[in-house]
Amino acid sequence: MNRQLLKVLTAQEFRVLSGIEGHLSDKEVLALFYFVYFPKEKGSIVEIGSFKGKSTIVLASGLKKAGRTEKVFAVDPHLRGSYEVFLENLRIHSVHDTVCPLRMTSEEAAKQWNEPIRPLFVDGSHLYEDVLLDIQLWEPWVIRNGLLIFHDTGVERFDGVRRAVEEAIVSCGRFRELLCLKNMRVFRKRW
Ligand SMILES: C[S@@+](CC[C@H](N)C(=O)[O-])C[C@H]1O[C@@H](n2cnc3c(N)ncnc32)[C@H](O)[C@@H]1O
Repeated sequence: MNRQLLKVLTAQEFRVLSGIEGHLSDKEVLALFYFVYFPKEKGSIVEIGSFKGKSTIVLASGLKKAGRTEKVFAVDPHLRGSYEVFLENLRIHSVHDTVCPLRMTSEEAAKQWNEPIRPLFVDGSHLYEDVLLDIQLWEPWVIRNGLLIFHDTGVERFDGVRRAVEEAIVSCGRFRELLCLKNMRVFRKRW
């Protein structure tokens, strides 16, 4: 993965992405970029939980670098006042034209959603019931061979994320695990 990435993401571009304030480690930045840049399938990119936009900008930068015209739909109610910084960060990193902010909860956004998704990135509420709900609401829209990416799967205080992923994704057999980092797991939907 790293060798392929080195050909498309310069050290300077990586430093800029990894320096954005947010909740992704360097390895997770690379993984998100990789899984949006390389797969050839078509479909929207949906992110649940944007905060100040670190993951949003990584996803949008991967899309732009690949020369693709899809958008990142960034779902977050921004109840803790992160919306202005989020918008400003999109502008600073020149991805505001690639991101469609949906300032609402995952549940509200799902009610109006009707498009195929190729990667779904889940990093919203970390409560067990909410992660299960995110999966239940959004997974049906993920295309065959599309990806589901979960963040904070290995943090003890967010054990609900790990449990929900184990129960709803790992144990059902419809998903193949492609990557397991300390705090991020990536699955391909087989059917
Ligand atoms: C851990 S932060 C996301 C970090 C971000 N992905 C990054 O790279 O920095 C979690 C975010 O999820 C949002 N959130 C909480 N509950 C949500 C829900 N039900 N639907 C969508 N977003 C939610 C919060 O507002 C918060 O900004």
